[in-house]
Amino acid sequence: MAPHPLSLNLASFIIFSLILTSSAADDEHQFEFMDVAAALNQARQVFTPATTVLPQQQLYGSPPLSLTIHPRSTLPSARPTAANYTALTLSRLARDQSRVHSLLLRHSLSLSRSSASEFSPQQFQSPVTSGIRLGSGEYFARLGVGRPSKDFYMVVDTGSDISWLQCQPCSTCYDQADPIFNPSASASYRPLPCASSQCSALEVSACRTDSCLYQVSYGDGSYTVGNFATETVTFGTTGSVPNVAIGCGHHNEGLFAGAAGLLGLGGGTLSLNSQIKAASFSYCLVNRDSSSSSTLEFNSARAADAVLAPLLTNPRINTYHFVALTGINVGGRPVNFSPDLLAIGGDGRGGVIIDSGTAVTRLRSEVYNSVRDAFAGMARDLPAASGFSLFDTCFDLSRMTTVRVPTVSLQFAGGKAVALRPSNFLIPVDDAGKYCFAFAGTSGSLSIIGNVQQQGTRVSYDLANKVIGFSPNKC
Ligand SMILES: *[C@@H]1O[C@H](CO)[C@@H](O)[C@H](O)[C@H]1NC(C)=O
Repeated sequence: MAPHPLSLNLASFIIFSLILTSSAADDEHQFEFMDVAAALNQARQVFTPATTVLPQQQLYGSPPLSLTIHPRSTLPSARPTAANYTALTLSRLARDQSRVHSLLLRHSLSLSRSSASEFSPQQFQSPVTSGIRLGSGEYFARLGVGRPSKDFYMVVDTGSDISWLQCQPCSTCYDQADPIFNPSASASYRPLPCASSQCSALEVSACRTDSCLYQVSYGDGSYTVGNFATETVTFGTTGSVPNVAIGCGHHNEGLFAGAAGLLGLGGGTLSLNSQIKAASFSYCLVNRDSSSSSTLEFNSARAADAVLAPLLTNPRINTYHFVALTGINVGGRPVNFSPDLLAIGGDGRGGVIIDSGTAVTRLRSEVYNSVRDAFAGMARDLPAASGFSLFDTCFDLSRMTTVRVPTVSLQFAGGKAVALRPSNFLIPVDDAGKYCFAFAGTSGSLSIIGNVQQQGTRVSYDLANKVIGFSPNKC
């Protein structure tokens, strides 16, 4: 990437010169510029009073089915309550740990379980209620449900299959932004019989007076229980699909950021994408601090410039979207670790999934340590700062407006790499100018590509061809 016109102040000019004199000639692939001030301004803007009017939907291409997608901070019910950006970051990271814990738990359960029958009936009656009950929820789609159709904010979740929403009458419902869905006011609501294929496909189900009951627990204490039913779902002005199996939740615990429910975009048979037989879906996640929106699209054409990588199948768990990440490049060079550390093992362990609900990319610790060391080694000219929450590599950029940072890219099987922008790996954690390297290690075998690394990129899941595409700047 060639340096483009940027207003370099004296401090960054000095840094620029230091790096120039101390690095090799081909440094244009080793370093790139980051606009410190722009990210900080966006962080500070979260705390300036703003109107809650959501911006106009921006359509990319002319897709068959499309929903608007919003970051958490623009949800009327989830405006930050934190006192400042430091506190906001800490609460985001706590939620993120809870999300990762829930993904890892589900992964290890699926590896140890031979069949769903090991769930006891007691588990169905009283779901685990310990924990902080946050529910996931970083990005939200506006989905129409029922006839006449009513719009609801739904958590976009590529890490689970079942879509559900809170339903009247509520035994237990958490607060939500939209009125709670009333199935008796919808002409298209049909409870599913126990013998239906959709009911049989549930991992946890029960039968009451020939109505199918579902339950989903997310491992952080949040859960939903209710009737499994079919409904008509409406995708903005782009179309409707009848007879989609969704959960009508009468007992729901969690926060889910005040969304009405959750949209499951996993790889299993009950996910929305599987049920509507979508050949593909794609989303673009706008910056978590911005107030703009983007789209979640089904069956739309992939951008011609997309970097393609294989989607993989893990026979032990079909819900997660596994991708063939084989390496990480820092400063234009591959970080030295065995690609086996990122591969799916014969026992179903390991592998790398891509997830809309996890914020910070988690790498298994051996890989993370090598990547971190490579980055820190090349960023030695940046003023170091103490760690922050789960981040161990931070910098004090408070006295700079523009800095040169090592490049980072994700290397996929087939030879293609996706270059991350600095905002995808160096993020502000307070409003004073402290930035941290936004990757972290996990003790488990599973690695997760999170949404900080996906922001600003259209990610296209080509389910029919088992390929994932990344197109930068296509929000
Ligand atoms: C941010 O808010 C927290 C919690 O209210 C407070 O303890 C902390 O001192 C604040 N930090 C700054 C930098 O204002």
